[in-house]
Amino acid sequence: MKILVTKRVFPEAVDFLRRDFDVDYEGTDEGLSPQVLAARVQGVQGIVSQLTDRFDASVIEALDGVKVLANVAVGYDNIDVPAATKKGIFVTNTPDVLTETTADFAWALLMAAARRIVEGHAFVHSGQWKRWTIDLLAGQDVWGKTLGIFGLGRIGQAVARRGRGFGMQVLYHDAQRAPEAVEQELGARFVSKDELLGVSDYVSLHVPLTDGTRKLIGTAELERMKPTAILVNTSRGPVVDEAALAEALQRRVIASAGLDVFEREPQVHPLLLNVDNVVLAPHIASASVETRRRMSMMAAENCAAALQGRRPANLLNATLWA
Ligand code: GLV
Repeated sequence: MKILVTKRVFPEAVDFLRRDFDVDYEGTDEGLSPQVLAARVQGVQGIVSQLTDRFDASVIEALDGVKVLANVAVGYDNIDVPAATKKGIFVTNTPDVLTETTADFAWALLMAAARRIVEGHAFVHSGQWKRWTIDLLAGQDVWGKTLGIFGLGRIGQAVARRGRGFGMQVLYHDAQRAPEAVEQELGARFVSKDELLGVSDYVSLHVPLTDGTRKLIGTAELERMKPTAILVNTSRGPVVDEAALAEALQRRVIASAGLDVFEREPQVHPLLLNVDNVVLAPHIASASVETRRRMSMMAAENCAAALQGRRPANLLNATLWA
C-alpha cells in the first residue's frame, strides 16, 4: 500500500511508515500545489497532510481509493470532514500531545504583550537604552487580573490552569458549558460572551475554526472590551476579523494583542506590521521540537493503523468505524 506525505515532517515518522508501506515523501517545506497534489494522490491509499493542504469537498470528491487522511495538527478546518465521511475516508488529527505546549505559547504571547518584552528587546538591541527611568516600557500586571477564555477544550483548560497559578480570576465562554467538576478543578466561571468581553483583562481564544466561530471577534466585540485589555489568538486566524483588530489596535480600542495565527497565512494585515502594540508569531504555538516530533509520529501512526485495519487512535469521523 502507498502513502503520500505531502510536506516535510520529522524523519522518524517517514522511517516508521517505510517499514510497512511504499512512501511517496514530499520532503520539502513548500509542499504541493493543489494541482500537483491532485496528481500525486493517484494510486495512494493513505495521506499524511498538514494544515497548509486544503482538502475541500471537491478535492475529496476526486480522491480515488484513499482510505485515510492523517492531518499533522489538532485543528482540521483544512479538511471537509463530512465530505470525507461521505466518501468513507477516515480523518485523524493530533490532539493531546500539543495541549500543554500550545498553552505555554499562549501564555508567552500574553506575557510578552502585557510586559512589552518585544518592545524592550528592540529598545536594547537598537542602542536606545541610555538610562533607567521610573516608567520605562511600563506594561501591565498579569497576576491577580481577570482571564477570559473562549473555548474551554483541552488547550483552553491548560491555559486556565496556568491562569490560576498567576492568581487570576478565570472566566470562560463556550458553546457548551463544561461539567461542574471541570469548572471546579479549574476555578473557572462560565459567563456570556458579552460578560467575558466586558470584564476580562486578557482574552485568549481556544475555539476550533467552524462556521460558528468565524469572525467571533470583530469590531463590535473589540469595542466591548476594556481599553486596557489584551487579546491573544493561538487558535485560527479567521476566528478574528484581522482588519478590524488592526484598526482597533491602531486606535487603541484595546491595549495590545498577541497573535500566532492570521487570516491568510503567511500574509499579515499590513497595519499589524505598523503598530507597536502587537506581538506577532508565525503560527508556532505547538512548535517545541518534542511536540512537533510527537505530532509527526502520531499522524504516521494514525495513518498506518487505518491502513492495517486497526482503529486509528485519533479518529475524527468515528461513525465510519462501525
Ligand atoms: C496547529 O495549528 C494545529 O492545529 O495543530
